[in-house]
Amino acid sequence: MHTQVAIIGAGPAGLTLARMLHLQGISSIVLESREREYIETRTRAGVLEQPTVALVRDLGVSDRLDREGMSHNGFYLRFDRTTHHLDFHRLIGGHATVYAQQELVKDLVADRLSSGGPLHFDATVTAIENTSDRARLTVDHAGTPLEITADFVAGCDGFHGVSRAHIPGELLREHSRTYPVAWLGILARTAPTTPEGMYCAHENGLSVHSMRGPNITRQYLQVPVDTDLDDWSDEQIWDELAVRSASDDQPELERGEIFDRSLAPLRSYVCETMQHGRLFLLGDAAHIVPPTGAKGLNLAVSDASTLSFALGAFYAAGDRSHLDNYSATCLPRIWKAQQFSWTLTTTLHALSDDPTDWQLRRARLGRWAESEAEQSALGEVYLGLPFPTPWRFTG
Ligand code: FAD
Ligand code: DHB
Repeated sequence: MHTQVAIIGAGPAGLTLARMLHLQGISSIVLESREREYIETRTRAGVLEQPTVALVRDLGVSDRLDREGMSHNGFYLRFDRTTHHLDFHRLIGGHATVYAQQELVKDLVADRLSSGGPLHFDATVTAIENTSDRARLTVDHAGTPLEITADFVAGCDGFHGVSRAHIPGELLREHSRTYPVAWLGILARTAPTTPEGMYCAHENGLSVHSMRGPNITRQYLQVPVDTDLDDWSDEQIWDELAVRSASDDQPELERGEIFDRSLAPLRSYVCETMQHGRLFLLGDAAHIVPPTGAKGLNLAVSDASTLSFALGAFYAAGDRSHLDNYSATCLPRIWKAQQFSWTLTTTLHALSDDPTDWQLRRARLGRWAESEAEQSALGEVYLGLPFPTPWRFTG
């Protein structure tokens, strides 16, 4: 089996890239190690930046996103029992959209299958041979070995995938930072406390109050990284969410049935370079941000846009320069998102018992609450910096 681009992984990076290549007339095969149902129900991110939404529209797969996505002007910030609204729309224009990652994945999978594009589930790539004339992938497809050759390989296989290990060690510079905390996330049948998402900085740690619809909330608690999910009863989760979000100016948090819970450790990671020969890394395969600020999914999509443009230029005009510059083109935007997520993470979480740290964090929170200049600077990144390139090469 031969294809122009072999795409490893059917997450947001792999599926958006597949759609962009299809629209440019470039063939691809998507290989996903999990079953369809698993990737369509995996609960993860939910906040889409403006450039991400614009791209999904441009790709013609936004019908449900346009109907069901919730348009938000900014977010709420609560500390010292007081609530502040950061209205980025008023200050700089634009919106963020709340639409669950697995819904976007469902839309992209349905589109891929209905347009006849190859997408194989239960297909695990185990090795990539990267030679000067082509790439060769070894695949375990439901127990049957398969070999695929391709002009290029897009490693969209997440942080624990196989692709990154195929960048030679001597070319790889890894930047990694771990945190002593994780996010305990829940989905619950309750109405949101605030009309847009809210971050609450409390001495016990951060709580985040987001939503998936008028009667479903997505909420997170900062917990120690070695937490066992079974150690928390539903009642303890609600009690702690209520303590951290208590205020003097808004009603108390509503409680309801918790129907999904998960744990996600916080990590910052970037690998430089993101490419070697015919192999390109996208999304979580190349970088991880802590969830604070909701950048992970959006970065995956912007990498896909950059690679799609570069492949378009190669196949339409024989121009390899954009492929050669792929990593250099992606990295500045990735580092800006890293810096944003790190600033939000270190300001909103309780990461030490040192009272000086809390005073410094409080001073920064105070500036975010009182200064429109600070809010505009935050809003520019929160709503989404422009993607480095358009997804389509037009010559
Ligand atoms: P992924 O979505 O991870 O997709 C990679 C795909 O590759 C997977 O489907 C995997 O099964 C497949 N794969 C792996 N190895 C192979 C192989 N060898 N062969 C074939 N297929 C393979 N971001 C936020 O912004 N906000 C959040 O609240 C948030 N919460 C998160 C919670 C969790 C538990 C996790 C893990 C991530 C969260 N993220 C969040 C991050 C965000 O979801 C990711 O940044 C986003 O999924 C990245 O997309 P991707 O396409 O790069 O990778
Ligand atoms: C959500 C996720 C985030 O990472 C965040 O910072 C805010 C909200 C969410 O899942 O809705």
